[in-house]
Amino acid sequence: MEGLGLDQILVQNILRHIDVGVHVIDKDRRTIIYNEAMEKLEGLSAYQVLERDLLEIFPSLNENTSTLIKVLNTGEPIWDKTQTYTNFKGRGITSLNSTIPLTLNGDIVGALEIAKDITYLNRLSNKLMDLQCKLRENYYGKSGRGIRHYTFKDIIGESESIKRVIEVAMRAKDSPSSVLIYGETGTGKELFAQSIHYGGVRRDAPFIAQNCAAIPETLLEGILFGTEKGGFTGAVKREGIFEQANGGTLLLDEINSMSHGLQAKLLRVIQEEYIRRIGGTEDIPIDVRIIATTNEEPMESIEKGNLRADLYYRLNVIYLRIPPLRERREDIPVLSNYFIDKYNSLLGKNVVGIADDVLDKFNRYDWRGNVRELENVIESAMNYIADDKAYLTREDFVSFEYMNWGNKISSLSAMDSALPDYLDKIEANIIKEGLKKYNNNITRTAERLGITRQSLQYKMKKYEL
Ligand SMILES: Nc1ncnc2c1ncn2[C@@H]1O[C@H](COP(=O)(O)OP(=O)(O)OP(=O)(O)O)[C@@H](O)[C@H]1O
Ligand SMILES: [Mg+2]
Repeated sequence: MEGLGLDQILVQNILRHIDVGVHVIDKDRRTIIYNEAMEKLEGLSAYQVLERDLLEIFPSLNENTSTLIKVLNTGEPIWDKTQTYTNFKGRGITSLNSTIPLTLNGDIVGALEIAKDITYLNRLSNKLMDLQCKLRENYYGKSGRGIRHYTFKDIIGESESIKRVIEVAMRAKDSPSSVLIYGETGTGKELFAQSIHYGGVRRDAPFIAQNCAAIPETLLEGILFGTEKGGFTGAVKREGIFEQANGGTLLLDEINSMSHGLQAKLLRVIQEEYIRRIGGTEDIPIDVRIIATTNEEPMESIEKGNLRADLYYRLNVIYLRIPPLRERREDIPVLSNYFIDKYNSLLGKNVVGIADDVLDKFNRYDWRGNVRELENVIESAMNYIADDKAYLTREDFVSFEYMNWGNKISSLSAMDSALPDYLDKIEANIIKEGLKKYNNNITRTAERLGITRQSLQYKMKKYEL
């Protein structure tokens, strides 16, 4: 690397050691960068590819099917596209690609493709679907015994606000209409979804839950709608969960994480009431009730571009907002006692309640993890409490120190607000200082803070700066 500047050495080393494939072509479609990870992915060597016309090396591609050429021609980036193919060594590969135009003074001078090998994810998802199928077969084969379902009697709470949500959910249980449930993490969204299903007329048909976050679009599409053999490499003939849930309920968790493309397909399926497997030609009628959940306020999701407005209106026929625990503190003692009873029987203890100072603390704590956090805190204390003690006291909450009993954690006691609020304040201050220093120049402030302009503008709006 003699004669190279630090920048070039840096770039070379990053390209060599990074585990995502990088392929760059110039405006004449000739490859100018082809890194080691890309070699491994496509089964080619850099010397076979460099300096040569792209279509010469990949004769099966053309102007329309090559993402690099498409981006070169249109100047529009393509984000997170899943591609499945057999590489030059005959290995089936699924990769997640983003392709970005390279511009210099407004002219397109090339295109960059970044490819991540997600073949293992594809395999995992196939395995997962196999297992889910088996599980369900076993379950329905044995008339449902042995698996725990939640019903309305499992929803504990005496606050007016939770009672109102329960009332709406109970009225909705026999309806075929879609339900949208919004609540912070741990507020009981799944509990409500199951209660609606197992409390209603569909109780003898399947209830299937699917999380929509962290699964690439194509894989999730396969899971939802099923695949026909050859639909994508490694794909076998398999029904999706829409078919498996036929007659029953499908819970789509974290709907706001689903890609817009898939949200559009989902909307179509809900409206038209039939699905088509990936790679298939047959329209399969389905009767599935959709319950979708989100932990982000739906209007905010729409504004941020995480949720399509048209899908929202379709799902929002019945809307349940489960309030966070800190907005219904009356439920804290009831829930605490409920969890004490639960762990009394699980752990063989005889605890009768919680000391007043602890309950007092519970009432002032902000419970960002909501009911799940409360349950975990009680479960932990129930493990620590001595056998002869009747009340849970401060000493039993060993792993609960972050609740800041009195003055034990002095650096935290300076904070009079919850951690996320406190961090927000610090962030707002830093941004304010940056803006002052750079005379409100957004580009320079963003650069200095190491964030994008869009992100800075979003934060300025959020903090009203
Ligand atoms: N009102 C309630 N009564 C009794 N248990 C509850 C209640 N709300 C929540 N729980 C319990 O708290 C835990 C979390 O609930 P659940 O899984 O339904 O939350 P969630 O909203 O789906 O959370 P996430 O967004 O993290 O998926 C579960 O063990 C559930 O049984
Ligand atoms: Mg959940």
